[in-house]
Amino acid sequence: MMTQLLSGDQTELAAGLLRQGEPVGIPTETVYGLGCNGLDPNAVRKVFAAKGRPMDNPLIVHIADREAWPSLVREIPPLASALADRFWPGPLTIILPKSDLVPSETAGGLQTVGVRLPAHPIAQDIIRCAGVPIAAPSANRSGSPSPTTAAHVMADMNGRIPAVVEGGSCLCGIESTVVALDDEKTVRVLRPGFVTAEQLAEIAPRVIVDDAVLSRLEDGKAAPSPGMKYRHYSPEAQVIMLNGSGETVAEYINRRFTHGDCALVYDADCQLYGSSHVFGYGDTDESRGAQLFARLREMDARGYKRIFVRAPRTDGVGLAVYNRLLRAAGYDVRDTAVSPYLVGLTGQTGAGKTTVSDVFAEHGFAILNADHIARSVVQSGSPCLEEIVAAFGEKILLPDGTLDRKQTAAVIFSDPEAKKQYEGIIFPHIIRGVFHAIDSLATEGVDRILLDAPTLFESGLHTACDHVVSVVAEETIRLKRIMQRDSMTVEEARRRMSAQHSTEFFRSHADSVLENNGSLAELIAQAEAMIAALPIH
Ligand code: TXA
Ligand code: MG
Repeated sequence: MMTQLLSGDQTELAAGLLRQGEPVGIPTETVYGLGCNGLDPNAVRKVFAAKGRPMDNPLIVHIADREAWPSLVREIPPLASALADRFWPGPLTIILPKSDLVPSETAGGLQTVGVRLPAHPIAQDIIRCAGVPIAAPSANRSGSPSPTTAAHVMADMNGRIPAVVEGGSCLCGIESTVVALDDEKTVRVLRPGFVTAEQLAEIAPRVIVDDAVLSRLEDGKAAPSPGMKYRHYSPEAQVIMLNGSGETVAEYINRRFTHGDCALVYDADCQLYGSSHVFGYGDTDESRGAQLFARLREMDARGYKRIFVRAPRTDGVGLAVYNRLLRAAGYDVRDTAVSPYLVGLTGQTGAGKTTVSDVFAEHGFAILNADHIARSVVQSGSPCLEEIVAAFGEKILLPDGTLDRKQTAAVIFSDPEAKKQYEGIIFPHIIRGVFHAIDSLATEGVDRILLDAPTLFESGLHTACDHVVSVVAEETIRLKRIMQRDSMTVEEARRRMSAQHSTEFFRSHADSVLENNGSLAELIAQAEAMIAALPIH
């Protein structure tokens, strides 16, 4: 299918397609919507298919005149009317019990329907001309940032729908505020937007911002708004949200910036950075809202792998921007005022990690040894040890009830499946222990930490590090060192070594590689040079 780009005055053509049951990309003042006849279950199914959206996530129904509202809902309470009086046309969606006219497909199987009267003249034209209420989710592929230009819609939907209507850049850039009524006095904000909680409070006696707006939904808890449970607004790149002043955020980013990174900060902060990979997204919450999704898409298009974003405050429209960022970042929010610089150190057994770790200590790094933490999480009576015993049986315990390390090693190094199962149990406990230790060091004022972790990559801890260092050495060198250090036979040492990643793996997954060619003096010199080049001085 060829997707046609229609101009803003071809609204009749767009309306014709909609009447025939086809989906069409249409501009609104919030984001572009993927519109369809909201009363036609087949048309609605096409929209879900084009987006790749789960069928239990309901669509918002768009109308061009208030008169179309009563037929879609069971009744309109006075509070809902008052909200519409004040905010329509505009970026507010009001959820009410649905009438039988609204198909269950549109409502995602719920008994309610969200209705909105958009302010965009082209949207109004199209809806009026189509003569039916238009159900429209944001016109992105499910999970990616919402489109705020016709080009964004084309990028996601080309070949999947017959047409997109050009309507310029969206004024808000963030989807509508979605509200439900808890009772005749209470408005509940399910999704924040350009209509703010503060503005709603001018109309409603009570405004509640739903918990899910600022925190992750607990597993198994029903979502008041089904859209909240899905990964959302996410670019391909990893997004890290940073809270703090312009200065602390700049310091945090400048210390960590490496190849593939970019940053999105307030316009006024840009001068605090010396990098061409730092972008502004405005100096007001409104401008940040308007630019957020376009910026995230742009950064993906440029191939960045990691995006640092200075988050806005959570009042006014800032709440909406913060909420979208939270989801884009998968809830990875960091407080720049207290975060130490974290170096991850890894490498094969016997390659010389301890030597390198000593050099870091001399340079003021607090040393966190993941092996020590691993040992502490399996102490007798610990929940982790209980899980291990449940999986592997009492045979891996010593008579005094502690973990038999030799026996455990024998079990897990002989069977890849057992190793995987063991790691699946122990890593989450180690990770929690590591972060706990980092937080306590941070509160003591420590600003640089070396995390020495042989299983840095396997545990996923490398993703938390600002810089990853691998120490590698020729096999013969490692063999000799292991046999000496752990008084092992050649066979035992070989077996230990074969359970580890290849030298090539450690080389290609690190920010810095230190080569141990047998001379400790040289290894130390390499480590010194590497530390000197870190952006922490
Ligand atoms: O600004 C907007 O609202 C845009 C433009 C196109 O109007 N539309 C939009 O639709 O953002 P969509 O489908 O991407 O997001 C609608 C959100 C979803 O999170 C959905 O779960 C929630 O609103 N929602 C819709 N109907 C609902 C209902 N009856 N009850 C609870 N939540 C509902
Ligand atoms: Mg959406």
